[in-house]
Amino acid sequence: MYEMGRGQTMTTLFTDIQQFTTWRNEIPKHDTVGFVPTMGALHGGHISLMQRARSECDHVVVSIYVNALQFNSLNDFSKYPRTESVDFELCAQVGVDSVLVPLQSDMFISDSPNLLSPSKEAEAFEGTDRPGHFSGVITVVDRLFAVVQPTAAYFGLKDYQQVAVIRNMATTLHPRIDIRPCDTMRETDGLAMSSRNRFLTETARASAGLIPLALSTAIAHWRNGCRDASEVTAIARSIFDRDASIELQYLSIVKDGTMDQVEAVSERDSIIAAVVIDGIRLIDNMQFSNA
Ligand code: PAJ
Repeated sequence: MYEMGRGQTMTTLFTDIQQFTTWRNEIPKHDTVGFVPTMGALHGGHISLMQRARSECDHVVVSIYVNALQFNSLNDFSKYPRTESVDFELCAQVGVDSVLVPLQSDMFISDSPNLLSPSKEAEAFEGTDRPGHFSGVITVVDRLFAVVQPTAAYFGLKDYQQVAVIRNMATTLHPRIDIRPCDTMRETDGLAMSSRNRFLTETARASAGLIPLALSTAIAHWRNGCRDASEVTAIARSIFDRDASIELQYLSIVKDGTMDQVEAVSERDSIIAAVVIDGIRLIDNMQFSNA
């Protein structure tokens, strides 16, 4: 256990789930607890979730756990950036009350725990390109929810499909937890913040700027009156086609909070995309009414 004071708030680091539970049990029953699960390497996107939790809840918990169960290769898992001391400092600056960094052996008794099966929302898109990914995500989020017992949990809409899948899991297994989706934070050229952006070379980083451009141009086309989903996606596709280094994995328009593809686009729908640039896989999405 480690503590760092910032003005009024004391931020405590827990690596031991038992000690965290003792701290959690001391919180009065009627206080609200906001929870932000992360895999660390914190950036502006994570910070915006933490700030929102801080402004809405009496107590804020952030977890940092690089979840082996959701990676498709051991290589991706071991390459995942680990910046724990900077992360803790950032949590303290936001006024987070406790940072939980659990050990794998404390999270799951076995090295290959029983995995939860995700809802049908997990099947297409990320589910196709990353088999087993969402099963790993919900298994760990379910475990973290049981430990943290939050009133509300904050997730970024940057991972649109993840929000849909977690929402379904929570409705069944943790109906009392309020799932709060949060807006995507972007760099100045519109690229969605991501822990993977640091792996982009200068050239790949320049190409990545085409992702928000493609999505927002498609939305502008919709604003100009086009409602046909294939025409709207064609506009985005033509922008990706400008750059041969961009490999488009999927590009689609889905219905309001679901993964159901639409033919006629309405304002609550979202355009979603995954691309690979120079070996780095990036995902993004925008809602038609929000962009
Ligand atoms: P991680 O990638 O660390 O992201 C933690 C949270 O930050 C997620 O809810 C994610 O959607 C959100 N986030 C990431 N980039 C963002 C951005 N640019 N703007 C706003 N929010 C953003 O997602 C995971 O970890 C894991 O799957 C996890 C849920 C922790 C389970 O292991």
